[in-house]
Amino acid sequence: MRDSELMDAARRVRVRAYAPYSRYSVGAALLARSGAVYAGCNMENAAFSPSVCAERAAVAAAVSAGEREFEALAVAGPGEGLCAPCGVCRQTLFEFAPALRVICSRGDDMEVFTLDALLPFAFSFRALDICGER
Ligand code: THU
Repeated sequence: MRDSELMDAARRVRVRAYAPYSRYSVGAALLARSGAVYAGCNMENAAFSPSVCAERAAVAAAVSAGEREFEALAVAGPGEGLCAPCGVCRQTLFEFAPALRVICSRGDDMEVFTLDALLPFAFSFRALDICGER
């Protein structure tokens, strides 16, 4: 699947975002190795901390459908600036796909990163095994 097709899917789901507090609507589309695409939007809450980002909504949908392997994620935000996943979403995605291709919107353009470049020294239990702490 082309990056632009995955980004189109992210832009389509963005309109479903529930973001009455920040007014920053985000859509994400996650391409599984199976070829299926899972979409998610951000969902805010009056208590703020229960809010969920679009990326984590997409991962939850995919894992709930039985997927564990992923190839690419597109994330679409508003405005002209870069919309890249927050730190919590980077860690969540890293659990399943450290080398994930991350396609970020910048206005009508896109910028592509790898997840391991966006999250150097990510936390993992494997690192603890190596240093003998577990
Ligand atoms: N948000 C996302 O959904 N994904 C991102 O990559 C960045 C931030 C959401 C969280 C919150 O609902 C709103 O955007 C403003 O931070």
